[in-house]
Amino acid sequence: MSIDFDALRRRFPVLERKTYLNSGSYCALADTVRDAFNAYMDERLAVGANWDVWVTKNEAVRAAMAQVLRVTPDEIAVTASASAGINSLASAFDFTGARKKVVISDFEFPTNAQIWHAQERLGAEVVHVPAAVDGYIPLENFARVIDDRTQLVAVTQVCFRNGARLDIAGITRLAHERGARVMVDCYQAIGAMTVDARALGVDFAVGGMLKYLLGTAGIGFLYVRSELIDELVPGNSGWFAQQDIAAMDITANRPSRTARRFEAGTPPVVNCYAAEAGLKIILETGTDAIEERVRALTRRCMQGLADIGWPAITPPDDARRGPMVAVPSRDAAGLFARLLDQDIVPSFRDNNIRATIHFYNSEADIDRFVAAMSAHKARCGPQA
Ligand SMILES: Cc1ncc(COP(=O)(O)O)c(C=O)c1O
Repeated sequence: MSIDFDALRRRFPVLERKTYLNSGSYCALADTVRDAFNAYMDERLAVGANWDVWVTKNEAVRAAMAQVLRVTPDEIAVTASASAGINSLASAFDFTGARKKVVISDFEFPTNAQIWHAQERLGAEVVHVPAAVDGYIPLENFARVIDDRTQLVAVTQVCFRNGARLDIAGITRLAHERGARVMVDCYQAIGAMTVDARALGVDFAVGGMLKYLLGTAGIGFLYVRSELIDELVPGNSGWFAQQDIAAMDITANRPSRTARRFEAGTPPVVNCYAAEAGLKIILETGTDAIEERVRALTRRCMQGLADIGWPAITPPDDARRGPMVAVPSRDAAGLFARLLDQDIVPSFRDNNIRATIHFYNSEADIDRFVAAMSAHKARCGPQA
């Protein structure tokens, strides 16, 4: 079945006014996501507290998120952010034994480095896997660091700085051979690509709903492979993490038998409304079709930039690229401001302009971005 991406695009009103290439920071708002926010407001006005419905919303997000990751709802914790999920997971690890090492990479988003470094006071030893001279982190670099003292490899799928995509299935195979577990931070991939947790083989996955999953800030997820849930008891807890939320028992901590044990307090209700609506669009469109479209658009962008003599630093190999194209500039902040003036909305990190691309972007968006870059090349081009 072919998908009418033009019709889908019309559901995101900001795209009429802006060349929006910033979904890796915050998605464009869809018509049905706005309707979902409004539905919550209408209920607040009409009935006040609507807990019976609100609880079902949290469960709807759990079920939809499970479908996106191709796992079961019992393996999903609905969290307040990716950071909340990582913190909760970290609170279930014990670093006093022989496996003290947590392996992360130099591609991590800060939160996934900071939280593991925060475990150093409990005995963790955090080791960074560096990039090779070409800027990528090949499997060999992980092979050099993951060993029989490694408890966890906590690694990003797509780097937020340069759009490079790591070989998560390969890293996981390697880690499992050496008795270590793997957590993938798939925030810069999920929604724009298929992230099939079982096919990747990972033990844990974290992310959130404000980027390519089309939802909002203030809601995220943690996937925990079912076989591991029982043995991991988070020190992080709360009443919504209990086996029986309604028990109101203050004599003991009785964690849920499902991944809900990694949750804490009252769910982010209004965010559940938005997340449910965003996830519905992703599921209806299908992540395989989205990935194919995003790959074609990022490829077009890479080619266009090469053609104007201003190549991206993002890997050209499709298998090593996420939904982002990062372009080095000697004045990224200035270039960003110029592009904004032209109603082109990218983002910038370090010395790079980042175009983060979703299925609702068009070929015309990409061409407009490349044409604008060409016009700014003399002033803002790559580092000398
Ligand atoms: C790869 C990655 N991980 C984690 C985060 C942080 O997520 P949160 O703010 O939900 O903790 C981000 C946010 O941009 C990200 O890009």
